[in-house]
Amino acid sequence: MRLSDKQFSKLVLVCTNEKPDGRPCCAQKASPEFYHALKVAVAGMDPTIRVSKTGCLGNCVSGATVAIMPKNVYLGEVKESDIPEILEMLK
Ligand code: FES
Repeated sequence: MRLSDKQFSKLVLVCTNEKPDGRPCCAQKASPEFYHALKVAVAGMDPTIRVSKTGCLGNCVSGATVAIMPKNVYLGEVKESDIPEILEMLK
């Protein structure tokens, strides 16, 4: 193991998990489309912030779920219309 020299000012995780058995999940709530829209918006605002897809964050019923680190903020029921407010939270 070695330390990576890659660092970001913040990390935004968007759950895009899909449960093929039909249980509630973020993928059912358009989180893949939300992820792409948020990634483009954040890159245009601050390229030091990383937006990444992730697996289940344990908030499936109230998805789509986003975690903002290191603020340790979790958001549920996010949709594309929330992106301006999320950008404000990242400033
Ligand atoms: S499937 Fe997204 S929080 Fe569980």
